Amino acid sequence: MTRLTFDYQHSASFVSRNEIMLFEREVALHRKAIYNGQGAGSDFLGWTGLPHEAGSDLTDRLESDAKKIRAQSDVVVLVGIGGSYLGARAVIEALSGALPPKAGCSQGPLMLYAGHHLDEDYLGELLAFLDNKDYSLIVISKSGTTTEPAIAFRLLRQHLQGKYGEAASDRIFAVTDASKGALKTLAEKHSYATYVIPDDVGGRYSVLSPVGLLPIAVAGLPVRELLAGAAGMSDFLRREDSLMQNPASLYAVIRNILYNKGRTTEILAAYNPSLRYMIEWWKQLYGESEGKDGKGIFPAGAGFTTDLHSMGQYIQDGLRTIFETVIRVDQPSGKVVIPHDEDDQDGLNYITGKRLSHVNHMALKGTMMAHTEGGVPNLMINLPLINAHTLGELIYFFEMACAISGYILGINPFDQPGVEAYKKNMFALLEKPGFEDLTEKLKKKLR
Ligand code: PA5
Repeated sequence: MTRLTFDYQHSASFVSRNEIMLFEREVALHRKAIYNGQGAGSDFLGWTGLPHEAGSDLTDRLESDAKKIRAQSDVVVLVGIGGSYLGARAVIEALSGALPPKAGCSQGPLMLYAGHHLDEDYLGELLAFLDNKDYSLIVISKSGTTTEPAIAFRLLRQHLQGKYGEAASDRIFAVTDASKGALKTLAEKHSYATYVIPDDVGGRYSVLSPVGLLPIAVAGLPVRELLAGAAGMSDFLRREDSLMQNPASLYAVIRNILYNKGRTTEILAAYNPSLRYMIEWWKQLYGESEGKDGKGIFPAGAGFTTDLHSMGQYIQDGLRTIFETVIRVDQPSGKVVIPHDEDDQDGLNYITGKRLSHVNHMALKGTMMAHTEGGVPNLMINLPLINAHTLGELIYFFEMACAISGYILGINPFDQPGVEAYKKNMFALLEKPGFEDLTEKLKKKLR
């Protein structure tokens, strides 16, 4: 039995059971296409098997490398972008403490990130910070040629070599394609330890491959539990062919029904700041998978109650083109009780003795009622608590729902042709060899 549940009871006035059931046959076909590898983008269905295929050879190796990296490093820098960055960060941030330094479960290394943007100030500060730190690099790129991580890796590699000389190679771990790309070539030349990203796993569906698992293990977090949670969800979703009982199918259908009724923006909201990067990962998964052919729900994110004091106004009263999916976490991992105060100047004695999580849950309930009454459908994902197991479930649930939802929308949820456009222009503007014609064209436009 999985621990994650999904419900739409607060949106029953926006979506009826009959409307949902109209998708029954179609969803059965899409599920068949996914499990039999017959749908659009079927070359990229490797993610479906990842939780079960990561055998003990891989997990043993991950744990042994993680131990080595943790022992030799005060800091570990993960170099990567998009799918080669967000999933690892989502899990690490969700399971590490709330306050800095975010150092994994115990006294592990501080995890930092690079290659996920091109900001000179950030890279300059990072290099200066690393001057007097012992550190290692995990560099992740499936293509091995993505500009942002390639630039960061060149800078960090040279910094590391300046510090450790030839021994720098023992501090670099590359996760990349089995046979091609510049990163693979560099890894072979300098004998870096490498992990393979399977050919049939796309970036945004790769968190349960070494792309996510290596950094997560290095942060001191239990990859086996994460995989077990995902495997449990995978088995459950495969077995459960009733649309109303299958949370991934149900979520996929309801978001498409809402989309067809003009709800073109979905806000994924959580009341736990530790889920901030899980929301970022979800935005990439859904945005890159569905936003194509002039279609797709725009995925937005919010952290409540913080954003109720900013976005809250718009959600309550603005354009009615949005719906919300709320992640509700039942149990906190710590205990904080609101104390009594003799003076009660702040007027808070009415909640004396209550746990903060109770107040947070009342905020969630109150907000859900207000937003629903304000015309915003609310869907809910319930997690009993945040741990590696439930995050594994959540990840797999979102991935499967995304695939089904993409097929309902009539697009290929596994490609990303639109990402190339900015890259071509950037290369041309940087006068990269091979882009001469476009360089000329763009220069004329800029004149
Ligand atoms: O999901 C995707 O395919 C992308 O977001 C990629 O992960 C991202 O562009 C990074 O690509 P690469 O791993 O090839 O460096």
